[in-house]
Amino acid sequence: MAQQEDVFKKIVAHAKEYGFVFQSSEIYDGLSAVYDYGQNGVELKNNIKRYWWEAMTLLHENIVGIDSAIFMHPTIWKASGHVDAFNDPLIDNRDSKKRYRADVLIEDHLAKFDEKINKEVEKAAKRFGESFDREMFCSTNARVADLVSRRDAVHDRFAKAMNDNDLNELRQIIIDEEIVDPISGTKNWTDVRQFNLMFRTEMGSTADGAMNVYLRPETAQGIFVNYLNVQKTGRMRIPFGIAQIGKAFRNEIVARQFIFRMREFEQMEMQFFVRPGEEMKWFAYWKEWRMRWHKALGLGDEKYRYHDHDKLAHYANAATDIEFLMPFGFKEVEGIHSRTDFDLSQHEKYSGKKIQYFDPELNANYTPYVIETSIGVDRMFLSVFASSYEEQKLEGGDSRVVLHLPAALAPVKCAVMPLVKKDGLPELARDIVNDLKFDFATRYDEKDSIGKRYRRQDAIGTPFCITVDHQSLEDGTVTLRHRDSMEQERVKIADLHTIIHGQVSLNALLRKLN
Ligand code: GAP
Repeated sequence: MAQQEDVFKKIVAHAKEYGFVFQSSEIYDGLSAVYDYGQNGVELKNNIKRYWWEAMTLLHENIVGIDSAIFMHPTIWKASGHVDAFNDPLIDNRDSKKRYRADVLIEDHLAKFDEKINKEVEKAAKRFGESFDREMFCSTNARVADLVSRRDAVHDRFAKAMNDNDLNELRQIIIDEEIVDPISGTKNWTDVRQFNLMFRTEMGSTADGAMNVYLRPETAQGIFVNYLNVQKTGRMRIPFGIAQIGKAFRNEIVARQFIFRMREFEQMEMQFFVRPGEEMKWFAYWKEWRMRWHKALGLGDEKYRYHDHDKLAHYANAATDIEFLMPFGFKEVEGIHSRTDFDLSQHEKYSGKKIQYFDPELNANYTPYVIETSIGVDRMFLSVFASSYEEQKLEGGDSRVVLHLPAALAPVKCAVMPLVKKDGLPELARDIVNDLKFDFATRYDEKDSIGKRYRRQDAIGTPFCITVDHQSLEDGTVTLRHRDSMEQERVKIADLHTIIHGQVSLNALLRKLN
């Protein structure tokens, strides 16, 4: 665990050192849970967004995009349920004066059970070797069986309390399980209270009568309130989808784990409108398709899993998360939700406008049902970045830090380097850059030894380094170095474009999804 934390710290430090992610307002000591993306980070982030956008809108002829405003009429958030129910249960410790999410305290407590169980299982697996049967061990080993049954009992109580919105019971679990404040170490807890996560601000001058508005906590509502506009102007026929990428804001209380939980973040959401009664078919479709999108990146199939929800929001009839193995365990990256006709019906009720679809095949009007896919750009960034990071020991005692980013997402695709700064090599290298730059993010680098230049590119995940040497002047060839294998091959300058395109284009990645 400590080792994992160390690796995570190194990943965060690397993100800063190489211009991927900076703490917001750093020169003023930072703003908690708000981050800025640097020169390399913004490119990686844009490539992630492009991969999602093109997968949605190019590969599905019945999905179109929109870009709705962050500010929306405040009644939208009343209709969506966010004003009344977008809450976190909070508890304070009277000694440390710190505030916590009661559900997170209990989840962390449950994770400790899991850690203990896993430790026992790993020890036994080593002892028994190949003949080890995990299931049998967990049910027969008295210590593990006891841990599992205690864990399950707490989990069941917790799930019920969350489902019933029972704040007293949440507090009671914290008391009964003797959960202590990680800072003061005491159990001096207040009652649990609800806290709304939306940021509020005012629009218009006071003389006009300022209106309270919210910074949107999700992009989805911008899609729902534009459903009719898009359906009518785009002559869309059900089933069809509307996709959107944009910022969302939540006043998260437990803000930690770097860009995993932020107060200002970005979402990529798609609402797919279907006939009532067909939602489970489409839920299954999107569940499978979205997993395919993730796995096509090649980060490792074993790093993904589904987490089907036991506890459903009152408007949902099915929900699952796609979880990714982060340096701090499996965590939600994306949610896929069957939201019934809840949102459109609510907006119909609150706006007084008819929001329906006339289905020519059925010759009937109905309120469409909705399947939503909702993924956080920043969490996606973190999963790609963290799982690409490797500290490698090389032959001869040397070492390097390399980011094995999927080539299509890498901020820089190739770096062109003259071996020496003379004899016409820089000029030829510049010519190559000037040719490649129209299709690929290409850098020119002539500073330091060639080894140092390679390391710099490895550290930001550049898939190719192209070295121009004296032979290049004679026969029009260069060395092409591959980031992951560090192998070098001699190729014609004239072939560079085709070789690089074959490896780094988004097109190749998108084709895997078809
Ligand atoms: N419209 C549905 C919706 O917003 P959600 O599960 O609350 O559902 C969807 O959020 C995704 O947005 C999450 O899976 C996560 O990737 C991302 N997300 C949510 N809160 C976040 C936060 N505070 N920081 C970063 N990403 C967040």
